[in-house]
Amino acid sequence: MLLKQLKATEVKEETKMMEQTLVLIKPDGVQRGLVGRILGRFEDVGLKIKGVKMVWVTPEFSKKHYKELLKKHFYPWLEEMITEGPVVAIVLEGLHAIELVRKLVGATEPRTALPGTIRGDFAHHSYEFTDAKQRSIKNLVHASGNAKEAKEEVKLWFTDKELHAYKTVHEKHVF
Ligand code: TYD
Repeated sequence: MLLKQLKATEVKEETKMMEQTLVLIKPDGVQRGLVGRILGRFEDVGLKIKGVKMVWVTPEFSKKHYKELLKKHFYPWLEEMITEGPVVAIVLEGLHAIELVRKLVGATEPRTALPGTIRGDFAHHSYEFTDAKQRSIKNLVHASGNAKEAKEEVKLWFTDKELHAYKTVHEKHVF
């Protein structure tokens, strides 16, 4: 009986740690042919792909996705960049997935993003350069910043039907 109760508590704790997060491989990543390598970074750590699709973002949708940034000086450049070609949208699931994915993605400015991160390894844009050119930083990926953002963004980009329930081998080795 006690063992049963303990197990139920463990499952509850585990469920709290299990998170979903939204990742976009932005037009620069798609056009540079980096989709496979970027997705591979997330698969390598054992994150589960719950849903994936290619979407050409409209200016209206960009305003919904980047609603917190509409007043920033770089928003018009950001909208131009995110609508210039299709993106690959992905929902990833795993333990502490939101923080884990941000760690793998690296700092916003590729110039300062650490080696080993996606932005640090595959890009080198700086704010100094893009502000002078009046363009958006091209840093290949978007990843939800926190739990609230992740919840809203997964809902904005994917329907329940587009998120799939299946087992990965990691479930045997991690849980
Ligand atoms: P932000 O949400 O601050 O960063 P992150 O993508 O790391 O969560 O900004 C969104 C995007 O806007 C960012 O990925 C690149 C672009 N951007 C600029 O072009 N110039 C800037 O000065 C900043 C801060 C962001």
